[in-house]
Amino acid sequence: MSSAKEVVIKSIDEIESLLARAYWLEEEFEGVTQWEAYTSVEDKYKELLFRLSHESEGHKESLKKLISNVEGLDMDAIKQNSQARNEIKFKKHTEDVEILYEVYENDQLALDLYQKIHSMTSHEFVEEVWNGDDPEEFFEILSDIIKEEKEHINALGQYAQKLGRVK
Ligand SMILES: [Fe+2]
Repeated sequence: MSSAKEVVIKSIDEIESLLARAYWLEEEFEGVTQWEAYTSVEDKYKELLFRLSHESEGHKESLKKLISNVEGLDMDAIKQNSQARNEIKFKKHTEDVEILYEVYENDQLALDLYQKIHSMTSHEFVEEVWNGDDPEEFFEILSDIIKEEKEHINALGQYAQKLGRVK
């Protein structure tokens, strides 16, 4: 028998706080960092950063759709909860690869969070609180975001490699 206790997400409060974190990551961290990065780097990197920033907007829309389908979740409360994290400051970089590395790290953080929500949330719980037709949609929305975050990490990985921080 394993001694590790598994986390199971099965209450509105738990899912609300995790989704608020995810929303904050998309809004502030990914959105702002990617956009700041876009404006700071050389032209040759701009196309990639523009796409990542645009797709993060899509993630935010997907999150809103997911949140609106869960009984007991309130978008305003989530926005407020995510604003409480606003005081985090971004590191300042001068090198393009350093900037790209920071975006890479943020996307990894986001990926980790989405994967946790996806794997730890109880399917029975989602069935109870899902307002839409198919509760599996909750997990499908997360899977789609996870796929894109992985693609972002791959696209940025080559620059992270240049820093020698990724093997
Ligand atoms: Fe994202």
